[in-house]
Amino acid sequence: MTTILHVDSSTLGEGSVTRELTAYAVERFKAHHPNAKVERLDLVADPIPHLMGRPEDQSFANQLKAADTIIIGAPTYNFTIPTQLKAWFDRLAIAGETFRYTENGPEGLLKDKRVIVAIASGGVYEEGHSFEHNQSYVRAFFQFLGLEAEFVVANGVAISADSKLQAISKAKTGIDQLAAADEPVDA
Ligand SMILES: Cc1cc2nc3c(=O)[nH]c(=O)nc-3n(C[C@H](O)[C@H](O)[C@H](O)COP(=O)(O)O)c2cc1C
Repeated sequence: MTTILHVDSSTLGEGSVTRELTAYAVERFKAHHPNAKVERLDLVADPIPHLMGRPEDQSFANQLKAADTIIIGAPTYNFTIPTQLKAWFDRLAIAGETFRYTENGPEGLLKDKRVIVAIASGGVYEEGHSFEHNQSYVRAFFQFLGLEAEFVVANGVAISADSKLQAISKAKTGIDQLAAADEPVDA
């Protein structure tokens, strides 16, 4: 059975752009896998404590390993992801479990998963811009674990109401395309 892990980290509740996009993505991916099990992590309603020492608890890493599709809301707060999302990342990178060090450098141990990341930002920062530390960081983090994240980006949502609507609509089209590319293995 397909397992979808649905992760949100926006603090903006009902008005959140990324929460709207991840909910939409879960719905679209479920359309391809009607029997999918959806696991939920709301990192604001149920925050993960910041690390004190090394990550001993492997339950979040195990949950990630058990998921087939991971759908993550990653708002841009002060140029990067929310601290709530970072606290989850801190539980996922565990040497010997999700990555390992080799003589040739670190090697990710995860494979065969889709990581779909919905980003929203008030302004517009493309990867490579000196203020852009969300998409590039999330991409690198999952590459480190062996996974290639796929992104939908709603940017410029603070520029105007029209710009926000357009950004959300474009991101939803992107989600439709990503979901359509999914194999209906257990439909
Ligand atoms: C605390 C806070 C910090 C923010 N910092 C940035 C920022 O650095 N750059 C930016 O483009 N937008 C910034 N914004 C705007 C958000 O990226 C925008 O509201 C986006 O919709 C957030 O996603 P969400 O609606 O899912 O929470 C910030 C918003 C908040 C609430």
